[in-house]
Amino acid sequence: MPIVRSKKIEVLFSAEEIARRNRELAEEIALSDLKNLLVLSILKGSFVFAADLIRALHSAGLAPEVEFISVSSYGAGTTPGELKLLRDIDTDVAGRDVLLIDDILESGNTLRFTRALMLERGARNVAVAVLLDKTMKHKGDIEADHVGFDCPDHFVVGYGMDVGHAFRELPFVGVVMGEA
Ligand code: IMP
Ligand code: MG
Repeated sequence: MPIVRSKKIEVLFSAEEIARRNRELAEEIALSDLKNLLVLSILKGSFVFAADLIRALHSAGLAPEVEFISVSSYGAGTTPGELKLLRDIDTDVAGRDVLLIDDILESGNTLRFTRALMLERGARNVAVAVLLDKTMKHKGDIEADHVGFDCPDHFVVGYGMDVGHAFRELPFVGVVMGEA
């Protein structure tokens, strides 16, 4: 078990498993009828997954444009599920196929908000790819079109995902086990 910053991290999905799954996901995505594809990575958690997935998409024969968006929950005192746009794109999405990429689908608020925004702006189709799906945590109607792995109900880190800004650099997805 690797020891990082005095915490033990138990590996949940190894770098090799993730790489294999990314290739499968890209093949699956390439089977959809995608034209003028725009990949939209939701910062910050999805940046590592997005970086690997776009290269797997290239190997699967796709040539997406890539953009980044940043959304965040409002603080206390506002409606749960209400989100604000921290960083927008200036790319015109009208008539385009958009593939939203996020690290984890939990309540679904992030993806529901971003999906609605792209449809409102006239995207032809919006599909969703997530590395991890916490199906037991979904709130309301939200499904990802492409899912890397079903995720158990643990807080996970690594492969772009953080706790308190730490552990994004880990090449695998793991669970923090406490002090070493
Ligand atoms: P949702 O809007 O409730 O679906 O939450 C999704 C977002 O919460 C993801 O984009 C992640 O940034 C974050 N998140 C949810 N679960 C975890 C976790 O276990 N580790 C790190 N980030 C998480
Ligand atoms: Mg996120």
